[in-house]
This record gives sequence, C-alpha cells and structure tokens, in this order.
Amino acid sequence: MSHSAFERLQQLRREAAQGGGPQRTAAQHAKGKLTARERIETLLDPGTFVETGMFVTHRAVGLGMEQSHPLGDGVVTGSGKIDGRPVYVFAQDFTVLGGSVGEAHAQKIARLQDLAFQNGAPLIGINDSGGARIQEGVASLAGYGEIFFRNVRASGVIPQISVILGPCAGGAVYSPAITDFVFMVENTANMFITGPEVIRAVTHQDITPEDLGGAAVHSTRSGVAHFTAPDEDSLFQTLRWLLSYLPSNNLSLPAPIPTQDPAERATPELAEIVPADPQRPYDIHRVLEVLLDDGVFLEVQPEYARNIVIGLGRLNGSVVGVIANQPDFLAGVLDIDASDKAARFIRFCDAFHIPLLTLVDTPGFLPGADQEHNGIIRHGAKMIFAYAEATVPKLSVILRKAYGGAYIVMSSKHLGGDLNLAWPNAEIAVMGPEGAVNIVFRKEIEASSDPAARRSELTQQYRQELANPFVAASRGYLDDILQPAETRQRLITGLDSLREKRQPAPARKHGNIPL
Ligand code: HXC
Repeated sequence: MSHSAFERLQQLRREAAQGGGPQRTAAQHAKGKLTARERIETLLDPGTFVETGMFVTHRAVGLGMEQSHPLGDGVVTGSGKIDGRPVYVFAQDFTVLGGSVGEAHAQKIARLQDLAFQNGAPLIGINDSGGARIQEGVASLAGYGEIFFRNVRASGVIPQISVILGPCAGGAVYSPAITDFVFMVENTANMFITGPEVIRAVTHQDITPEDLGGAAVHSTRSGVAHFTAPDEDSLFQTLRWLLSYLPSNNLSLPAPIPTQDPAERATPELAEIVPADPQRPYDIHRVLEVLLDDGVFLEVQPEYARNIVIGLGRLNGSVVGVIANQPDFLAGVLDIDASDKAARFIRFCDAFHIPLLTLVDTPGFLPGADQEHNGIIRHGAKMIFAYAEATVPKLSVILRKAYGGAYIVMSSKHLGGDLNLAWPNAEIAVMGPEGAVNIVFRKEIEASSDPAARRSELTQQYRQELANPFVAASRGYLDDILQPAETRQRLITGLDSLREKRQPAPARKHGNIPL
C-alpha cells in the first residue's frame, strides 16, 4: 500500500471522528448533550468500542444533498462490551444532518440489528434525530420500515434497549416503542408522533415539546419511558445496571452473582412492616428491601401506575422479576395502567428466563365507569394471559389481601403458579368481609334488633370461616402457609427447586393476547 493510502485512511478517520465539526459539536455540548461517540464511550467498558460503517455516505441527489457526503451518514454503529459482555450499539449523531435517517443511515442500523440478532447480543440504540431525512423522501421512510421489521423479529430473542437523548419525532418513535426498555434523559429528550407545530395547526392547542413528550410525561402518564435520569451519565449507569440482570439472548440464562447475604436469613421485620389491619397502607418497597439480596432492587417504570411495582432483584444470587401490589398507592388496586405495566414486564421476563416473584396485597380491580369504558376487561385480561402463558418458575406470596379476580390474576395456582405461599393472616375470598356480609346477609341484618352489632358479628364470622388462607391451603391452592420471618428462606429454596423447570409450550403459531 502506498504511503498516501495510509495517510488517506488517517485523514478520513479524523474527518469521521469530527462528526458535524467543532461548531456543531459546541452547540451540542451547549445543550448539555454529548456527541454520539462521547455517548458510546461513556456507556461502554473503556476502550472496547469497535466502529463499523465509518465510511458509509448517502447517495441522495437533489435538494442540495450532492454538495456534501458526511462520513458515517449521521449515525455511529459498532460493537463493544458492557461488564465484559458483548453488545451492539448505534448512536445517532445530531451534529451530522440533524441525525436524520436517510437510506444509508437506516441501512447501517439495520445491518447492526442483523449482527446483534445473529450473534445473540443486546442491541442498544441511542436516539437523537430530526427523524426521517426530508430530502430522501420515501427512501427514508423505507429505512424506518426496515428498522421496525428487525425490531419485531428480534423481540424476545435479544434484549433491545432504546435511549432517547434528543428529539425522537413522528414514526421514529416506533422503533423505541417496540424495544424492551426506553430510557429518556430529563429536559432534553422528546418523543411524540406529531409535534407542537402540527398540534397547533390542527387543534389550535399550544403545548411545549417538554409538556407534550418529555421524560416526565412519558415516565408518569403515558408509560412509554421505563427509566429517566437528570443527565446522560446517570442514565447510562442505570442502563448498565439493567443489563447486569439480563441474559444476552433467549438461549442463555441470566448470570447469577454470588452474594454475602445469607440464604437462610430470617425476615421477622416483615411482620412489622405489613400492618395486621388490612385497611392500613404500607410501602411495598420496604418488603422488597428485606426480601431481596442486600436490599437491592432495580425498579422499572417507578413513576407510572404506582399501584403496582415491577422490577429486578436477586434471591441468593439468582435474578427474579418482581411484580408486587403497592398498598401505599390507590390501596394497590389493579387498574388499566397497572395491568398493562405488569403484563408487558411478565412477558419480558418469560422471554428471557427470568423467574417471576409475585407479592400479593390487593383489594381487587378498581371500580368505575372510566375504567370500564376504557377497557379494563381487555387490559386486565392481559395479566391473566401473561401469567398463564409464562413458563418460567412462578413464585408468589399473599401478604395480606387477595380478593376476587385479583386473587386469580396475581400468579395463582390456577394460572400455573409453581410455588404459592401465604402468610397466616392473608384474606383470600370472593370479596372483602364488609361487602360480602352486606350482600349475603342483607335481609338478616335488616331484620335484626341491632343491625350494626349483627353486621360486625357476621363480618367476624366471615373472616374466620372464609377470608383466611387455610381454606385455600386445604384445597391445595396454596403450597404452604408460612411466617413472615421464613419468607426469604422459603423463596430461595423454592427457586432452587424450580431451577430446571421445563414446560414445553403447545404447538401453535402464537396466542392471541388481548391488546
Ligand atoms: C433533514 C434535518 C431534519 C430532517 C433536522 N435537520 N431535521 N434534515 N431531515 N428531518 C437538519 C436541519 O435542517 C439542520 O441542518 C440540522 O438538522 C439541525 O436542525 P435544527 O433545526 O437547526 O436544530 P434544532 O433547532 O435543535 O431543532 C431540532 C428539530 C428540528 C426540533 C428536530 O430540526 C425539526 O423540527 N426537524 C424536523 C422534524 C420532523 O418533522 N421530522 C420528520 C418527522 S416525521 P442545518 O444544515 O441547517 O444545520 C418522521 C417520519 C418517520 O420522522 C416515519 C417512519 C415511519
């Protein structure tokens, strides 16, 4: 090779590394944003990133496109490592053509998706883009289509994670929406199908990009975002933490991590944390802190549908996916948003061999015309579907209340629960004592000389005879009733006994989960 060829390579590498040049890089930094390459460096293990497609350029003509052919076409792609494990990553470069997605840009991402898929490694997409490249028209739309197609094909095969660090507008939002987890940085990231300008033109409604589709909105109201952080650095830290719980693909198992937290550690404090009075609220996080190894729990969607808590933790080193009612918020009822949140998480865990730990303390489904009209029937059904089709080990503990449909839904034996446990004071019945007594004994209470006293007597009787865990245990619906202090240890031995669980799915194309 001639000397000048070496020089040319060096020169082109330098050029590519500059992205959109010093001015645009400074503008990016001024917005509190890192550049695409800086982001990749921050996310990955130091020095592990290997870039591919650095010399790819667009081949568009017209609208001035022939005047410049920036190297890389606005997206940096390649592979690297996180905690020593391979990952594939792309980062859109807003300093180059606004990170807009043209034909070549999309092909680079699609190629990376194919590599991640074939090599069974997680795919991480860092989004910061003006969307479909206007100058490239339908070729750009086609590119998005190719990306979506691959997102769907890879779903349940490799973990797919989207990080939104700038604009993500129009149909561009659908790639992140298909992936398993969406991370958004506060104040800088936006996701919407139609932006404020279009909304103003069509509906005369004035709204800022942040109020329309910022991290706060998507983490609290829409449920689109799973994780948010005030800055890019801490967002990447959380992403690395999340990956530590996940296998690289659906043919591997999540890696156990040895722990100093003893498997036989008694958990008597749980009896104090959960009040005996079924009407009194408490924070389910405190229960998780006691149960899980070293009290460590990575909560997913912590601000959305707070009446149910989902996330990842470990029991004696093994990863578990937690689904827990939260009595501290709306008394832990199940509603539309909680059902959607839990069902998708259950399906994620099942796809990647993460056993499910369900903690039950719920008065049931939320009554109301609003819930009914918005389809709680359809949404609540997702949880039943997700639990019933999940073939990973399913462990549950009824801490206090498990009434009506919610008893069945929350990982019951009838939906294939493998280890169903309850504490001695658990209340399991068709409905709560007060409501039940009013219906069944209405006439008797009315006829009594002291209705209030009779009602309380009958309530007491109902609680003793029906609203306890011993009836369920006598039928074999519960595998055991245990003291709060024994809970961690029993869950760990249970998990151990289910480690090699095999449950082949029936041959079919796929089920038809209510959506
Ligand atoms: C081509 C684009 C672009 C785009 C931005 N740029 N978006 N070029 N196609 N979609 C270019 C700008 O021309 C500019 O180039 C540079 O990127 C930086 O953009 P600015 O506007 O200067 O930046 P800023 O003020 O920060 O505003 C960012 C922005 C705005 C809010 C994203 O650029 C914007 O509204 N862009 C259009 C967004 C959009 O409507 N996209 C289509 C969405 S629909 P110069 O050279 O002047 O610096 C879609 C459909 C997907 O994506 C369909 C999939 C099915």
